[in-house]
Amino acid sequence: MPTEIHQRAWRAAYLDTVCSALNKIAPRMQVARLQTGPIATNPLETAPGAPRCRPGPSKAVLVLMRSAGSHERVRVAVVGLGRAGEQHAAVLAGLDTATVTAGVDLRAGRAAQLGLPERGLPAALDDVDLVAVCLPPGQRGGIVEAAFAAGAHVLLEKPPAADPAELTALLQRATGANRLAAVMFQHRFALPDAVLRHDFGAATATLLVARPRPERHYTTGWRADRFQAGGGATAHLGAHYLDLACQILGMPAEVSVLRRRDAAAGIDVELAARVSFGSGSELMLEVTSTARHRTERLRVRGEHGWLEVTDGATSASLGGVRHRRAARPAAQLRAEVYRELIAASYGHRTLDWAALARSVGVSRILHSLQQQATAVRP
Ligand SMILES: NC(=O)c1ccc[n+]([C@@H]2O[C@H](COP(=O)([O-])OP(=O)(O)OC[C@H]3O[C@@H](n4cnc5c(N)ncnc54)[C@H](O)[C@@H]3O)[C@@H](O)[C@H]2O)c1
Repeated sequence: MPTEIHQRAWRAAYLDTVCSALNKIAPRMQVARLQTGPIATNPLETAPGAPRCRPGPSKAVLVLMRSAGSHERVRVAVVGLGRAGEQHAAVLAGLDTATVTAGVDLRAGRAAQLGLPERGLPAALDDVDLVAVCLPPGQRGGIVEAAFAAGAHVLLEKPPAADPAELTALLQRATGANRLAAVMFQHRFALPDAVLRHDFGAATATLLVARPRPERHYTTGWRADRFQAGGGATAHLGAHYLDLACQILGMPAEVSVLRRRDAAAGIDVELAARVSFGSGSELMLEVTSTARHRTERLRVRGEHGWLEVTDGATSASLGGVRHRRAARPAAQLRAEVYRELIAASYGHRTLDWAALARSVGVSRILHSLQQQATAVRP
């Protein structure tokens, strides 16, 4: 009935206004939504993507996510305190919406070295809202499952999974547990929204990722083991921009390796490949860890615009409108990932650019490169 629809629309608008007014007056109260019906026992149990304010025919219920006090911040366990874990710890130290309640590593004393509370598993999952998994792909094992089982959201380091099947299983677990699954592909936050959402049509694209690493980087430890690492320079250095290409060009359909040189079996240090996308777009890709200087450059020429991302700086023309954005430090971009995830965990917004679900394309390409590793001689 039109009258009822009008009433509902009015109520929705009214509740939304009250909601945002309360957040302005008392931002630390974190008013999540106004709704009818029972309050969730755990306020973080807001379904991802749920509207902030829901209209309803009966009395509105105010849901406070957290009141000011000891639990006002999202409690984070950082698992794996190597290079990536250290970067997470540094970013989290600068956020007033999060606190690290556990630093977990096989190396005793490592957490203390970073100024984090040292805890082991599973104790670290006892009282935690978010688990940042900063382990190599092959060492993540049951940690993600345990985190979801403990009611925590999960942030995975890149590459997001050992293969697309594992990624699908992770996404299903997140949905089953009604938890959020995010990925630290921080470069997604370097590009303006308008660029990432633009339809370039069938495009031709080139990607060059040159990041110097000594050969021994890929001949020792987990980085030399294809089952632990899931690949070499492309999986670990090229993954960020390859993922960007997938955000822009869509889902890959075919991957052909043109040339590769491996430092160990399945661990590339130089790779050239061609990727065809379902959108009709084509990408020529070159990744090397043997160059002397660092360069990351993605160029896209499409039917409806062009884009260049060079070392984090974006220049684009979308339907004749120019867009420019200067490069920002990686630490700032990592903070953006956490901000989006934390806001989504409060139900203040949906998980968007940080979503693990957006990693299917890059995961398929990396897996295909791995499958073809044995077919191409170094
Ligand atoms: N997003 C980025 O910019 C970025 C930057 C660096 C690394 N990474 C990614 O992060 C992942 C890890 O790389 P890294 O450079 O930090 O590796 P690393 O070798 O420096 O660190 C791995 C750490 O995990 C610990 N560890 C291993 N197994 C463990 C377990 N079962 N429980 C607890 N701790 C365990 C090790 O002791 C080590 O401290 C890789 O996938 C890498 O590609 C991403």
